[in-house]
Amino acid sequence: MTPRKPAANSADQHAANLTPRVRAHNPTCNDPLVLAHDRALLEGMPIVRGDVREVDALIADLDAWIDWDRPVAVLLIAVLHFVTDDYDPAGIVRAFTGRMVPGSVVALSHGCSTGADPAALAQVEKVYQGASAPGVARTREQIAGLFGRRLELVPPGLVPVQHWPHEAGPLTAIPVLGGVGVVPDPWAG
Ligand SMILES: C[S@@+](CC[C@H](N)C(=O)[O-])C[C@H]1O[C@@H](n2cnc3c(N)ncnc32)[C@H](O)[C@@H]1O
Repeated sequence: MTPRKPAANSADQHAANLTPRVRAHNPTCNDPLVLAHDRALLEGMPIVRGDVREVDALIADLDAWIDWDRPVAVLLIAVLHFVTDDYDPAGIVRAFTGRMVPGSVVALSHGCSTGADPAALAQVEKVYQGASAPGVARTREQIAGLFGRRLELVPPGLVPVQHWPHEAGPLTAIPVLGGVGVVPDPWAG
């Protein structure tokens, strides 16, 4: 899941830059405009239109491209804060981890209400009231819960994205927390 207009610093571009080492990269998005940009800029990559709120259908479409018997990485970067509780964001992550073999990872980032400037939060909520994708800031605890039981967070854990993997850059008025969870190998010593 790496939607949005591909830009120099987007997850799409970082993954694209790694393509010699990454076997497949499937930008997935529910926005036709973003997909049109993806198709133009990420030439030759399989791109799937999908909505994470219909995760079973999305995974069924991805089955054509992804070998779930090998470790995979799912990047839910700045996506789940557009998914309201009605659509069970933790269940969306679980649907992916349920298919994953050990060594697979989920990276996610999410706008956080814990420690946020109340005025900035109110302003963002107002802006997103009229938007097609409603913005939902969650508490640190709620975001940590999205990783579920199967994933083990790797250091430095769930931290502001500017601090992953080490401190760089100033924090934002509304923190965006990010973390990477790995499906552990139950047989590893
Ligand atoms: C802030 S951008 C994400 C940026 C991108 N992941 C990156 O790292 O560059 C949010 C994206 O989430 C997508 N999105 C929002 N709701 C979605 C949904 N229910 N299913 C799939 N994509 C969704 C939007 O279309 C938008 O492209």
